[in-house]
Amino acid sequence: MPIEWNSDTREFHVRNDRVSYILRVLENGWLGHAYFGSALTGDRSYAQLVPGEFYGFSNRLGDPVPLEYPSGGSGDYRIPALAIELSDGSGVLDLRYRNHRVVPGKPAIAGLPSTYVEVGGEAETLEIVLADAIAQIEVHLRYTIYRDRPVVVRGARVVNVGKVPAILRFAMSASLDLPDSDWQLLALSGDWARERHVHRQDLRPGRQSVSSGRGSSSHQHNPFVALVRPATTEGSGEAIGLSLVYSGNFLAEAEVEPFGTARLRVGINPDGFSWVLEPGAEFATPEAVLAFSASGLGDLSDAYHRLFRERLARGSWRDKARPIVLNNWEATYFDFDEPKLLAIAAAAREMGIELFVLDDGWFGRRNDDSSSLGDWQVNAAKLPGGLDSLARKVEAMGLRFGLWIEPEMVSRRSELFAQHPEWAVGIPSRPRTEGRNQYVLDMSRPEVVDHLLEVLSTILGSAPISYVKWDMNRTITEPFSPTLPAWRQGEFMHRYILGVYSLYDRLTRAFPGILFESCAGGGGRFDPGMLAFAPQAWTSDDTDAIERLKIQWGTSMAYPLSSMAAHVSAVPNHQVGRVTPLATRAAVAFFGVFGYELDPTALSAEESAEIAGQVAFYKQWRDLFQRGRFVRLSSPFGGERDEAAWMSVADDARSAIVAHYRILSRPNPGPRRLRLRGLDPAAMYRLSIWPAPEEDEGAVANPVVLGGDLLMAAGLVLESGRESARQGDFRARLYVLEAV
Ligand code: DGJ
Repeated sequence: MPIEWNSDTREFHVRNDRVSYILRVLENGWLGHAYFGSALTGDRSYAQLVPGEFYGFSNRLGDPVPLEYPSGGSGDYRIPALAIELSDGSGVLDLRYRNHRVVPGKPAIAGLPSTYVEVGGEAETLEIVLADAIAQIEVHLRYTIYRDRPVVVRGARVVNVGKVPAILRFAMSASLDLPDSDWQLLALSGDWARERHVHRQDLRPGRQSVSSGRGSSSHQHNPFVALVRPATTEGSGEAIGLSLVYSGNFLAEAEVEPFGTARLRVGINPDGFSWVLEPGAEFATPEAVLAFSASGLGDLSDAYHRLFRERLARGSWRDKARPIVLNNWEATYFDFDEPKLLAIAAAAREMGIELFVLDDGWFGRRNDDSSSLGDWQVNAAKLPGGLDSLARKVEAMGLRFGLWIEPEMVSRRSELFAQHPEWAVGIPSRPRTEGRNQYVLDMSRPEVVDHLLEVLSTILGSAPISYVKWDMNRTITEPFSPTLPAWRQGEFMHRYILGVYSLYDRLTRAFPGILFESCAGGGGRFDPGMLAFAPQAWTSDDTDAIERLKIQWGTSMAYPLSSMAAHVSAVPNHQVGRVTPLATRAAVAFFGVFGYELDPTALSAEESAEIAGQVAFYKQWRDLFQRGRFVRLSSPFGGERDEAAWMSVADDARSAIVAHYRILSRPNPGPRRLRLRGLDPAAMYRLSIWPAPEEDEGAVANPVVLGGDLLMAAGLVLESGRESARQGDFRARLYVLEAV
């Protein structure tokens, strides 16, 4: 995993056995970008990949010059990585290489979540200092390479080394110049209840971007994009991933310039952002994780899954088996009391569920969503014995107890708002916009964060609480803090998220045994920044099995199974009204952190027995469902077959579970084989089917023991098409493979 510096050719080669990242210092001292892709041999020069000279945009021949951290105003008209306003009002920088150093491991970024190392020799970091002598501005670029991951983690620090303030207009976390634009931009976009659908479009001349300006990473777009070749599939072809470890406003943007080269940048959204850099001050960007795969999207995703699960998530729950949850939200909404909750918990326990989560409505006078956020004292009318009594009774049944909170919010009708109206985000001269009858607390104010730490610590310490679901149910409007001077208001959105991180950090440290799950009206803040504190997230408020196929497929592009909370809910589904079989709902929710979101006291005896069977099955295969290698096989997005399929394989390939979902039934379908991936070609696998087929369901055409080579090259024969078609819509079948 060496980081090489060739002082003759002035090249850096950051590499491991899987990827290379090559930079070159140009003749004028600017930093050029030579290459990011499959590993290239070390100790060689690749100087020809980036022209040595730079005359504005181009070299002497007129070719565009790939640059590493470009700023505008001196000939490069492509999208810049950095923009600054100097004290004279000018905005041009001339950043030249000054020095560099290589440090073992990976330094943390103050105030921001980041990937980390745990053992010596696991990673190395290159820090390159660029400086503008006139502006007295330095940029410190950072590149971390792990020994055995196909990723490079980048970030930048902008330092004012002068004697007068400067205003940072924006500073991207990474910018990447590519020699051609024969790529498609893959992004995860949607909205509430349909988060992270996969969109893939050709790059075209000009700019294409996804972004958020809502104060959270958002339901609408995700801070992950990939560039993929048009022919790239799950199992073959080139893919470059860019993921931002950040939970606030972001921008990911690609530009194709007239010569057909492409530039990609990712970082904090420049819209509405600025940051005052006083003399001596510095600004650190969030980090960007760049990944490369020459073997398709599946391997790209796997690189992110492993990094995020092993070296971004932290705390005692990182590597532990996650409990099976019953959450009371869709069972009761706000309408509950202690006897009702205890009846639900008892029924859940009967079915083998491990954790009971009390959702919204347990505090203040909260009987609907119009009041009480901020008043984090138990509602004595609903829970006369308090949380402690309830939690102890739940624990006595053999379940753990979890609690919902929404710390960043305040209701207009609340004691907190009456006492501290100035803590709600807003512009004093204007009315505040309400969302879900609530305002957002000004998390840029340290006293607000301190207050929340104190009240939440009191609650979490008041009862045996094992799990916390941290929700965030509205976006930010009228971004402004009266604590900041006029010329610093552009800092508000970033300071907000720094405040959220500070609270998360302090609370998770104070309660190291608690499992935190992040949530934002479902999956509105499903991003790597949150995963650093909460190793799992509520994937979406949409629990319909068919909708979840798309949501979980899209989410899995960047995020591991261990991060995706997935629950079985009642039918007709509360979000789309669809009725799907109970087995199908479980077969989708199994792939992630499993649970239920329904009233178990309202089930028939058959349904309870079926759920007990599901819970037992999940427990048997929990490790595979939470930590297996996730392989996407057949996409639910517009496929001709109206199906979806995926699988999870153990790291040693000794076991795997394949899921095939038939969305709409088709008349007279043909035979269907599903080619698997990730198995051991030399192994023989024993096949069993879940749920066990009924006798009259038609035989499954496969023998009981099958070779891994056959399953990958020829495929698994799916159940007889005509027989299965008669079963109707929304059917799922799991194929369990165990090496013999
Ligand atoms: C939104 C969450 O996504 C739901 O699961 C639930 O917790 C509600 N908020 C409660 O208000």
